[in-house]
Amino acid sequence: MSDAQYDKLFRELQELEKNFPECLAPDSPTLRIGAEPQSQLSKHEHLRPMLSLANAFDDEELRAWEERLVRMAGDDVAKSGYTSELKIDGTAVALTYENQLFVKGATRGNGAIGEEVTVNLRTVRDVPLRLHESAPKGRIEIRGEIYFPFDRFEQMNEARARAGDPVFANPRNAAAGSLRQLDPAITASRPLRFFGYSVAAPDGEELPFETQTELLDALVEWGVPVAPHRKRAKTLAEVEKWAYELEHKIRSELNFAIDGGVVKVDSLHIQEELGVIGGREPRWAIARKFAPDIAETKLLKIKVNVGRTGALNPYAELEPVEIGGVIVKLATLHNEDLIISKDLREGDWVQVKRAGEVIPQIIAPIPERRTGSEKPWSMPKNCPVCGTPATREEDEAAIYCPNIACPGRQLEGLVHFTSRGAMDIRGLSYARIQQLVEAGLVRDPGDLYALKREQLLELEGYADKGTGSLIAAIEASKSQPLQRLLHALGIRHVGSIAAQLLAQHFGTLDAIMSASADDILNVRGIGATIANGVVAYFSDPAGRALVEKLRSRGVNFTEPRAVVAGGPLAGKTLVITGTLPTLSRAKATATIEAAGGRVTGSVSKSTDFLLAGEEAGSKLDKAKSLGVTIIDEADLLRRVNSPATSTA
Ligand code: IVH
Repeated sequence: MSDAQYDKLFRELQELEKNFPECLAPDSPTLRIGAEPQSQLSKHEHLRPMLSLANAFDDEELRAWEERLVRMAGDDVAKSGYTSELKIDGTAVALTYENQLFVKGATRGNGAIGEEVTVNLRTVRDVPLRLHESAPKGRIEIRGEIYFPFDRFEQMNEARARAGDPVFANPRNAAAGSLRQLDPAITASRPLRFFGYSVAAPDGEELPFETQTELLDALVEWGVPVAPHRKRAKTLAEVEKWAYELEHKIRSELNFAIDGGVVKVDSLHIQEELGVIGGREPRWAIARKFAPDIAETKLLKIKVNVGRTGALNPYAELEPVEIGGVIVKLATLHNEDLIISKDLREGDWVQVKRAGEVIPQIIAPIPERRTGSEKPWSMPKNCPVCGTPATREEDEAAIYCPNIACPGRQLEGLVHFTSRGAMDIRGLSYARIQQLVEAGLVRDPGDLYALKREQLLELEGYADKGTGSLIAAIEASKSQPLQRLLHALGIRHVGSIAAQLLAQHFGTLDAIMSASADDILNVRGIGATIANGVVAYFSDPAGRALVEKLRSRGVNFTEPRAVVAGGPLAGKTLVITGTLPTLSRAKATATIEAAGGRVTGSVSKSTDFLLAGEEAGSKLDKAKSLGVTIIDEADLLRRVNSPATSTA
């Protein structure tokens, strides 16, 4: 079902429940939202401890585990076989169902005592409020993992960074933090997901399955999401093969974090027979962890480069070391404060971590390995490229080179401008851009569009054919949509999402350049930091000069509206005021935009319609005085559901 369909049905249900409260079902989706914030989370004692797992870091450790099993349970282990599952890197929860209804949810806590987060868990759409009919009627507990998908995690952190809020270190912290909110409305705004992996009947009732495989199948049947890629294996050799695939293939294809696999003896009877070690770890399961992405090496030198915004970024040159199959020579050091707080010195032995795609990071120095020849480090007082004295802005950890004409900044600016997410000019590697800058052919992005074949052919490494295609790629980038150009300019705080919102809202670069900070703030999803960044960029003569240079060279300044060009509100500008009977502001805006229209914040002569709800204020008066057509929600819905030609 689409979100729009869901929302429509949801509102209808809310209305029905308001009018017929006796019909409010205990598993109504309307109960997912609207609970009051709590003053604190109450403690929850688990009926059985929530266990942790022993680890196996390689196949050998896995085999040692099997040997222990066989010593205890003999041939039965081979008869049972194994189930392997993803080890979801989120936060564990226990969900209690009574009479198939979700009644209580708690975090793992220390394994014995967790926190009750029922109202928060209700907001997670993956958590069924009622299990399917085939589920047991008695009290059961389903355990599993709440997680935060990667794509939504990145979006959220990007938005938080834009808004000046602290970002989450990783999806696991984001999941745990979002779940432990006192205000369930905050949890509801986070796209948490859930996978179940175990079931127990605390009252000792028989459950209708005998193996972990059947248990997971039952969960699916009851409507509980179960993680993909699970595998039933007869032998440990099959498990090993699965674990290899997990680490080298599956892992990179997932939209959520895993920190390995979990291998479980499939038979639940044998699980019981094998039991738990020290009340903490089951003998019958083991976490098959990935090879650690941590290595020890020597920090040779701390160097500084200058970014396109002028930020001076310290980084470490390392003695090359292999981490997770990749040779690492450099690690980011972020800023001076971090180097000081970790007491990193040139010549130190350090622990280096590579987490997924992320740039390698230094975890900490290893002071025991110091010889006394290590050198403490301090940030240079001048830009390492142009020598201009560096400045530090209040409340910021970064130090900047303030010189707009700094060749270091220009180089990074060009690299960003041509990058895939921006103007996407293929064939311009970092080294080539460096070469163009050093040859004096290019200083800013505008210069790229004046490059001639003959000029390139004079440079080292340019052959006839490649040169032609590079010139063609540069030429082709002129017609990139405005959102890419806007992102490419490297305006402070304007990433690809903000660029998209701005381009779609204003339609042309000229409209953005002449917009006030207030006009920009009217764009949904754009906050003050971005608005100020945009205004500052275009009021700077250097920013304007670059724009005019790009214009004179024929770069496109408009955003196509192809998708909804033929929509019933194509080309129309609307302003919304007051409370609409059913649509929220966001929904009304989305409806209008989907029909090709645009929503702005204030009424002017160019406004086509004022969409007015109850308690409309000054905008209504202004619209009347300007003779703007005033419509209500019903009019709007009629218009968007009609063909383009009938729009007034
Ligand atoms: S089984 C029976 N299965 O890993 C013992 N745990 O390190 C543990 N986890 O706290 C539960 N995915 O939160 C199990 N497929 C999976 C899991 C899984 C993630 C977590 C769980 C537990 C932690 C133990």
